[in-house]
Amino acid sequence: MKSMYERCCDVMPQVANRATKLGIIDSDGCYLYTEDGRKVLDFASGVAVNNLGNKNPEIVEAIKKQLDTMIHVGHNVVYNESYVELAEKLVELTGGDTKVYFSNSGAEVNDGAMKLAKYVTKRPAIIAFRNSFHGRTIGSLSITGSSSSYRKNYEPLMPAVYWADYANCHNCPFGKIKGKCSMECIKQFDSIFAKLIAPECVAAIIVEPVQGEGGYIVPPKEFLEGLRDICDKNGIMLIFDEVQTGIGRTGHLYAYQTAGVKPDILTSAKALGGGIPLGAIIAKKEIMDKWPAGAHGGTFGGNPLACAAGLKTLEIIERDDLLENCRIQGEYFKNKLLELQKKYPKYIGDVRGIGLMVAMELIDENGDPNPEITATIKQKALDKNLLLLICGSDHNVVRFIAPLIVSQSEIDEAMDIIEEIFNDFA
Ligand SMILES: Cc1ncc(COP(=O)(O)O)c(C=O)c1O
Repeated sequence: MKSMYERCCDVMPQVANRATKLGIIDSDGCYLYTEDGRKVLDFASGVAVNNLGNKNPEIVEAIKKQLDTMIHVGHNVVYNESYVELAEKLVELTGGDTKVYFSNSGAEVNDGAMKLAKYVTKRPAIIAFRNSFHGRTIGSLSITGSSSSYRKNYEPLMPAVYWADYANCHNCPFGKIKGKCSMECIKQFDSIFAKLIAPECVAAIIVEPVQGEGGYIVPPKEFLEGLRDICDKNGIMLIFDEVQTGIGRTGHLYAYQTAGVKPDILTSAKALGGGIPLGAIIAKKEIMDKWPAGAHGGTFGGNPLACAAGLKTLEIIERDDLLENCRIQGEYFKNKLLELQKKYPKYIGDVRGIGLMVAMELIDENGDPNPEITATIKQKALDKNLLLLICGSDHNVVRFIAPLIVSQSEIDEAMDIIEEIFNDFA
């Protein structure tokens, strides 16, 4: 009998670059069950979607309950309780001075956020960062700078996009050493504004508060503070793309709370809908109030099932103190990886992360990115039933996206597998 992967090849294009050939028939907590009888420890979480683990029974129940009343009603047409309640909850959790607009995906909310910034400022330009990932629609792809393969043959993309370098202190794009720099990542804006685009023509700076696909790069707080300052001085909207960092992943509901720097506009998706497609643009009230009826829209935004699942997700995160678990387990995980790095410094160039966004960067004998060994580690881990993903624009970072419910023993299980792989190399 053909596997799901083989059947898929018969009827679907290869375009959606899949990380494995696993066919999943059931799931539970931190584990996936495959069609060929394997039980796999899932540290991919559907790419940072299943933050409460797989098939959380309370989310399943919340969806079933919502299903008894309606499936879809359409937010361009009517209102429904879960939709309004989730927006109220998100406003409460983001300081009470915001409003929420629902869409379906990360790319869609990033497109919407740029439209909002352009609409309100009446300015054309957007500044994005190299090595960023914001999605695959023409709009969000235009501000994605992590791989030319995403953009190949799709040019011309959205015009008036300008690029800045991200604060990557481990591999500083300005050649500086961490702690011994003059924040060139902020100073670069003087040159961008003088030579490329006048600040009064810039609608927004869009940034991931922790770069995800770009390599799980945690910038210093001063970088985000510096961006906030630049935006304040020049009437530019600061957009945080929290599609991957949101819903508890960094140890606070949103990474802006971890960093202590508030954006004007925040985008959220992935884990927001508890596994059902849902995205939200969350922006300051005074900005949202300048976006009139008809200036943006969409059929499926804020689907009742997604909102019910989202509400239950937020309720469980709060009730079970999962942000605290995220911080504790994330620290434990990172320390374990740091111990491993001490043992294998010639392979592991860096260990980094915040909350349960944890990663290790793999290098070769010259200290350069080592995508080959990274791919080998991912494959060997999968052979031993640990599902991991790779990131980094040089494809040399293994990222660990454990759900926020992860226990120490599940991290130990993963670490045993990783250690075995390194022992084999040695
Ligand atoms: C930071 C970030 N923004 C946007 C996206 C795009 O989200 P979606 O795939 O839901 O369009 C992703 C997806 O990985 C992401 O990590």
